[in-house]
Amino acid sequence: MNNFPKWLNTAVFYQVYPQSFCDGNGDGIGDLNGLVSELDYISNTGFNAIWLNPCFDSPFKDAGYDVKNYFKVAPRYGTNDDLVRLFKEAHNRGMHVILDLVPGHTSDKCRWFKQSAKPTRNRYSDRYIWTNSGWARPEGYNWVTGNADRNGTYMLNFFLNQPALNYGFNVVTDPDWQISYRDKRVKPTLEAMKKVMRFWLDKGADGFRVDMADSLVKNDPDKTATAWLWRKVRAMLDRHYPEAVLVSEWCNAPVAINKARFHCDFLLNHGNKLTDYAFYKRDKEGKSTAYFCKTAHVSAKNMLSVYLRELNQTRNNGYISVISGNHDVERLSYFLDDSERRVAFAFLLTLPGVPFVYYGDEIGMRYIPQQSKEGGFHRTGSRTPMQWDDALPNMGFSTAKANKLYLDVDRTPDAPSAAGQMRDKSSLWNEVHTLLELRRTQTDLQSDGELEVTECGENGVLCYRRGQHTYVAINPTDEERKLSDVVGSKRLFEIGRATDGDGFALLAPQTVVVFEK
Ligand code: NOJ
Ligand code: CA
Repeated sequence: MNNFPKWLNTAVFYQVYPQSFCDGNGDGIGDLNGLVSELDYISNTGFNAIWLNPCFDSPFKDAGYDVKNYFKVAPRYGTNDDLVRLFKEAHNRGMHVILDLVPGHTSDKCRWFKQSAKPTRNRYSDRYIWTNSGWARPEGYNWVTGNADRNGTYMLNFFLNQPALNYGFNVVTDPDWQISYRDKRVKPTLEAMKKVMRFWLDKGADGFRVDMADSLVKNDPDKTATAWLWRKVRAMLDRHYPEAVLVSEWCNAPVAINKARFHCDFLLNHGNKLTDYAFYKRDKEGKSTAYFCKTAHVSAKNMLSVYLRELNQTRNNGYISVISGNHDVERLSYFLDDSERRVAFAFLLTLPGVPFVYYGDEIGMRYIPQQSKEGGFHRTGSRTPMQWDDALPNMGFSTAKANKLYLDVDRTPDAPSAAGQMRDKSSLWNEVHTLLELRRTQTDLQSDGELEVTECGENGVLCYRRGQHTYVAINPTDEERKLSDVVGSKRLFEIGRATDGDGFALLAPQTVVVFEK
């Protein structure tokens, strides 16, 4: 790929939720110094890149996705200098760090918004989307009224306290208040966001995961205007920061990668995509019909259909990022048991593109339903503190009293911990570690290596070639299955058991073999 940061070909990301990863100063909430102290853990596990969830100054009504000041680290996480130290310490270990950019909205406590809400015209008046009457509530969007002296209502992009930044409209239906995305009055919004990016790239950030990247221009049904904006951002990177990466939360790889020119796009569980069929699907009675559920016995066909199409359409332009989970969904362990997760991880980590693993998924942390925190609602259960070891009071996460923690740790007696899993040769952590080491050394398995499905039976068996001559055969079911090829003796990785017959192989229940041919 031309004009492409080379490091992405071997990148495997670890997603760190800063408030829940490691508390360096004992105040009960994770912070940047705590994260620095655990970089060796991340690196030793086999990850070479980090996506850090928002760490900027914020009232935390949406856990930091409501940014008050894009240029300042939230005091609860540390200082700008601490973040620079994180970049340096990561780079010293050959790792990259991308930040979370929230370009679609700010907090209503952001200075830009406070200025914009003033009745007298000023340079921020058009920075957000306002109607021209305090009573107006045009259909199709959410509006806030009665919260400012300005005679208008303002549009929300997500929660109540997240007003939409104004990048204009593609199709203008009410010129009295809607501004075209090409109008010079909305240009400063993108310029401001580019300035934010340059600020952190100049300090050592390696790029950004971009929140709701498709949401910028309103009434933009085919996203052409939004894509046009992102191409400008990409042009800035290509020219001045060629090693910096942009990963979009768009969930439509052909548009995000080919049109908006993101380097990677997340494949999330929107619209019957891969993770939906792989982990989450249920029938009407609530029984799992997910591919990796061992009793579901379903073909991989549905799981792969959209994925393969999008993979083909974006080949040579960028990568699709598969995830083990993230801060917005229930943890993988909520859907799949330990043995199922092992098969699923072998699949996730042998796909092309750039994989992302959510902190704690590598040790099988649990989803813990509980009261909402900072706008988390059902997501809060996936945001609990990392379980480092068995130490009291908080499994190594913090030395604070338990009642001072951001969220409580999993206190079930058999809650997994990083230290425990690292000691146990047969643990999930050890499997993930082995797979990451394999991916590092086996060029075929890296982001660029192509994927061709060689078998996808109704019996659930899946086999695919990666790159030149590396194959992955999977039987996710709880029954023995026949693969219509041999796996041979050049086995690079094996869980379960594969036995060759004459022109076929028998795969024991829940088997994955990576082999060369
Ligand atoms: C997507 C983020 O992942 C989520 O956590 C957040 O609440 C929304 N975007 C709004 O920014
Ligand atoms: Ca702290």
